[in-house]
Amino acid sequence: MKLINTLAEMQALKHPEGFKIGFVPTMGYLHEGHLSLVDASKKDCDLTIVSIFVNPAQFGENEDLDSYPRDMERDLSLLKARGVDYVFFPDAQMMYPNGYRTWVEVEGLSDILCGASRKGHFRGVCTVVLKLVNIVKPHFMYMGDKDYQQQSILRIMLKDLNLDTTIVGCPIVREQDGLAKSSRNVYLDPNNRQIALCLYRALIQAQKEVRSGILVAETLAEHAAALIESTGARVDYVKIIDSRDLNFPNEVNEHSRMVIAAYVGKTRLIDNMLLVSP
Ligand code: PAJ
Repeated sequence: MKLINTLAEMQALKHPEGFKIGFVPTMGYLHEGHLSLVDASKKDCDLTIVSIFVNPAQFGENEDLDSYPRDMERDLSLLKARGVDYVFFPDAQMMYPNGYRTWVEVEGLSDILCGASRKGHFRGVCTVVLKLVNIVKPHFMYMGDKDYQQQSILRIMLKDLNLDTTIVGCPIVREQDGLAKSSRNVYLDPNNRQIALCLYRALIQAQKEVRSGILVAETLAEHAAALIESTGARVDYVKIIDSRDLNFPNEVNEHSRMVIAAYVGKTRLIDNMLLVSP
């Protein structure tokens, strides 16, 4: 496994003719969710590149940029054990040198759901991912369904800007009790760790209700929100979206996905699930 921490070296990499290049962008503090993306890339591609970069541009002023968990040594040993070919870890000054002033925004979809409570978040995500794609030049980029809105926005960005990279969406990896794995789960004390399960439980409840014939999106969202609030967690949003375009349907169909963001203590968690199992 080769470590690369300069743009010049990353951009100068030459790969054998015809090799399929897979890329997994991350902010580090890796868990089995991230590693499942690595495994998917290893399975499909000839070469797998992982980036680790805690992107300051996607954190709001009052968010957790400074406290975001980091453990480079552990990350590198996990990636090595998984057979990754290259790890790219630029620093912030390299990515955003003094005088940096170009930003990318996907209109309309960046200010709903997570974008409504995290102003500028998706502008930061789109900008850094476009830069990384231009630097790494992958054929396939592996992204988790956990951040469903992020993945959907980036798909549109790649298409609108005519980039030759395809996003491969990968299923959410969960803890045994159902909590979606997240680097931010380390913020949860034992009591909040229990409360955090309410997101998963609300999604499972909604799936059950759909099976029992409740199809009105607003009713399902209200029930999910009530379950979450009853545990002491605070709902940021509970919505049902169409997985294809992030529109909000009135009635559930096979494309409907419930998406949730909630605060457990100070920790903001997200989760989502298709309401009709495929
Ligand atoms: P990060 O939160 O580190 O996530 C990196 C990738 O791992 C994302 O595609 C995310 O959806 C995926 N992931 C996280 N938890 C997962 C889980 N439990 N199951 C499956 N996949 C999971 O997302 C980012 O970083 C950043 O916004 C980034 C795209 C790197 C741009 O800075």
